[in-house]
Amino acid sequence: MANEVRAVVAAGKGLPVTVATILVPDPRPGEALVRVQACGVCHTDLHYREGAINDDFPFLLGHEAAGTVEAVGDGVVNITPGDFVVLAWRAPCGQCRSCLRGRPWYCFDSANATQKMTLADGTVLSPALGIGAFAELTLVAAGQAVKVDKAVGAAAAGLIGCGVMAGFGAALNTGGVGRGDTVAVFGCGGVGDAAIAASGLAGARQVIAVDLDARKLEWAREFGATDTVNASDGDPVEAVRALTGGFGVDVAIEAVGHPEVFRQAFFSRDLAGTLVQVGVPSPTMTLEVPMIEFFGRGGALKPSWYGDCLPTRDFPMLVDLYLSGRFPLDRFVSETIALGGVEEAFAKMQRGEVLRSVVEM
Ligand SMILES: NC(=O)c1ccc[n+]([C@@H]2O[C@H](COP(=O)([O-])OP(=O)(O)OC[C@H]3O[C@@H](n4cnc5c(N)ncnc54)[C@H](O)[C@@H]3O)[C@@H](O)[C@H]2O)c1
Ligand SMILES: [Zn+2]
Ligand SMILES: [Zn+2]
Repeated sequence: MANEVRAVVAAGKGLPVTVATILVPDPRPGEALVRVQACGVCHTDLHYREGAINDDFPFLLGHEAAGTVEAVGDGVVNITPGDFVVLAWRAPCGQCRSCLRGRPWYCFDSANATQKMTLADGTVLSPALGIGAFAELTLVAAGQAVKVDKAVGAAAAGLIGCGVMAGFGAALNTGGVGRGDTVAVFGCGGVGDAAIAASGLAGARQVIAVDLDARKLEWAREFGATDTVNASDGDPVEAVRALTGGFGVDVAIEAVGHPEVFRQAFFSRDLAGTLVQVGVPSPTMTLEVPMIEFFGRGGALKPSWYGDCLPTRDFPMLVDLYLSGRFPLDRFVSETIALGGVEEAFAKMQRGEVLRSVVEM
């Protein structure tokens, strides 16, 4: 049987999103039906609706979600109805060449629900990042639902499912930020601020926040940035160097998704420094870097997919850090909105007014 629920759909490139009735099938073996309680508005949702990820419209948006397991298909053992879960867009398959080499955080064949969610007329929807959670109910692979302590509120918990985990993991898992490091984070949205807070937690001695928006830089300080650079005031590379004794940082994190910001992060590193690319570029963007600078500076250039996280390991850890007062998860929630407010939330995101708008069902 299919369940009729309301959901946010992007029908075509650049078109405003709308709330539509969709059909969500009951779970079959290996699947879970989840009653979504909260879902954050991430910049990646906007990338989808702008056609910057791919052309598989219509999209069912939303992927930073927490909720309660409504029903599970046969053979599901990791969760049971009533469990409070955060949805993950990585559910390691255990069988691909990366999983078999003991690197499940890169899994190349992550699991998703097999059945399709559709519009009322049967048109198949493409769920954003294999989730699609701006919906009262959504269908995922059971492995995408990670049980966590329900003491964390749904609005904050959902953010662990994408932006916060991506930023936290970009700094700690991909960048390897550790005690005594100097770090610069370019782009202080939800992702960048999570990287800033994580760097502080790991013992970085200096965390430089770079953004074009003064308000974002103020918020970045609340997440633990020790210095701020407004990139609209001049060359941020010079500013980062000036703040680090002329040397540059050990780890530079690009959390915007723009070639010019990549260039700035590249040149803001100290010798042997690491650049982490967590911002998502659009398909037409290209990079040009003098090869001698790549070689001569040494270090590493590392893309970060989902913060190289293992959801079953890292989601409960982030919840514990939050519940013990060491990671300010709730500070990412700028406002809670209804399903109909997603288009306006995109506009607020673009105007820099929010870190995260979170839809509560
Ligand atoms: N790699 C992953 O797994 C992953 C996961 C989630 C999100 N993302 C991506 O991370 C990026 C950030 O996401 P978000 O939700 O934090 O977005 P956001 O819109 O909330 O934040 C982006 C920030 O970058 C700033 N900015 C824009 N241009 C800039 C520039 N030239 N220099 C400095 N700062 C600039 C903006 O003012 C804003 O504060 C997006 O590209 C998103 O798609 C990647
Ligand atoms: Zn795999
Ligand atoms: Zn996201």
